[in-house]
Amino acid sequence: MIIAIDGPAASGKGTLAKRLAAHYGLRHLDTGLLYRAVGWAVLTAGRPLDDRACAVGAAASIDPQNFDEEALKSQKAGEAASIVSAYPEVRAALVDFQKSFAATPPGAVLDGRDIGTVICPDADVKIFVTASPEERARRRFLEFRSKGLSVDEAEILEDIRRRDARDTARAVAPLKPADDARVLDTTTLDIAAALAAALEIVEEGRMARREGGEWRVANSE
Ligand code: DC
Repeated sequence: MIIAIDGPAASGKGTLAKRLAAHYGLRHLDTGLLYRAVGWAVLTAGRPLDDRACAVGAAASIDPQNFDEEALKSQKAGEAASIVSAYPEVRAALVDFQKSFAATPPGAVLDGRDIGTVICPDADVKIFVTASPEERARRRFLEFRSKGLSVDEAEILEDIRRRDARDTARAVAPLKPADDARVLDTTTLDIAAALAAALEIVEEGRMARREGGEWRVANSE
């Protein structure tokens, strides 16, 4: 089984993807880390983020076994990722890795921005996880603060809005729900409630597939 989870920054998609993978015994890939690693490699090489050749070189030689997750989870790496991920050649260099990860038995949960639309268009279940920008900023703020980092919530909100705009407006693989994705708004849900809602969506999707029915639900719910 392949489960595609997409959504904007700090929507809760990573936590949900991890828990769904654990629940179903599937592998999990946080594809944002790949783009973060590319952006981080450009920064640590001392190059500007508009150095496409450097970004493409980093994408082509990416090694997820050696990721420094702590550094990649920083705000700076997220912002860098949002910039380099708009380069079509960077995206192209990362497609095969993601597709073969998804295709390896017993299946996987992948989370990102274009999993349901580009990487796994035939995924068994697609969920688009979202939440209001203010709630996402609040979650990021609490997450950074729990790590002892001094951060400003208003600045985080600004960063989230900037990244949403960039990720949604880019020409290649923009952030958007696939036509056959179910939208899960987690604004008022805690992790347990969001997981319960996601599990319900997966089970409904599996049942619909088993029955061979079309499983297309309006995104406005
Ligand atoms: O999910 P995240 O915050 O770790 O992602 C960081 C950036 O990487 C995000 O702003 C856009 C980009 N990204 C992408 O373009 N495609 C993906 N599948 C995952 C992330």
